[in-house]
Amino acid sequence: MDLQHTLDDIRDAVRPYLGEGKVARYIPALASADPKKFAIAAVTVDGEQFVSGDADHRFSLQSISKVFTLTLALNAVGADLWKRVGREPSGSPFNSLVQLEYEHGIPRNPLINAGALVVTDAIVSRCGGTLSPIETILGFIRDRAGNDAIAVDEEIARSEAETGFRNAAMGNFIKSFKNLDNDVATVLDVYFRQCSIAVTCAELSRSMVYLANGGVDPVSGERVVAAERARRINAIMLTCGHYDASGDFAYRVGLPGKSGVSGGIAAVVPGKMAVAVYSPGLNERGNSLVGTLALEMFAARTGNSVF
Ligand code: DON
Repeated sequence: MDLQHTLDDIRDAVRPYLGEGKVARYIPALASADPKKFAIAAVTVDGEQFVSGDADHRFSLQSISKVFTLTLALNAVGADLWKRVGREPSGSPFNSLVQLEYEHGIPRNPLINAGALVVTDAIVSRCGGTLSPIETILGFIRDRAGNDAIAVDEEIARSEAETGFRNAAMGNFIKSFKNLDNDVATVLDVYFRQCSIAVTCAELSRSMVYLANGGVDPVSGERVVAAERARRINAIMLTCGHYDASGDFAYRVGLPGKSGVSGGIAAVVPGKMAVAVYSPGLNERGNSLVGTLALEMFAARTGNSVF
């Protein structure tokens, strides 16, 4: 398989669709994204990188950061995390509040916003010593991506904090069930900042490849998580990574994947590679419209699927 050729072909094939979908506006700093930008990148378990399109353009991780914080929290607290957050698909939008009340403040899974707040709270509780929680998260992503210059986009972080009314409601609601140990404001600040970490598509694929390689970063050789844990994180991405469109993503792409509202999607081909796409126009469920199409083409053309 000539992977470079495949990525270039996909970049050309999606060109007529660029500009379809709607760029996220509820976080004002995301509204200025260029809807014509497109990038696709892959890193194999041999550590080889392939990129096509605007692969150096930076965008914020948004909900994709939840995969990294889940990895960190599982490494810190282990299976105890599952006493505070479930691992079932929610069938609801990423920022939905409705299940929280009748499920007593235990979020359905770690990839919806409510679950991600609990995961971030677990990281905040565990961080002592010299590194702050956001430095710990940032350090993890820098190590995975191989770039120490990766940083929080301060303008986006400010914009998220200024308009994050639903997240604030959710944080307070979870706290009322005693499922947040730290101050709501502290957890929200770390959460908004983790979502605002800016990466390129190339860095995103590189930073996810440990999940394709049994938990080991193939470039540095570092074991990031146990193989069993990597497998389970992939299972959660497959079943919950696209919220109420997770079934549709599994049907169309058939790979564990995680979307972000800025237009990125990271997908994992277990045993082979990580693939990342970026296109800021979103479909009606809030996932990248052209990004999903590109991954669907990728799965169809390469035959890569977990099914
Ligand atoms: O909390 C929020 O609303 C954003 N920072 C992240 C949401 C997001 O990326 C949803 N994913 N598709």
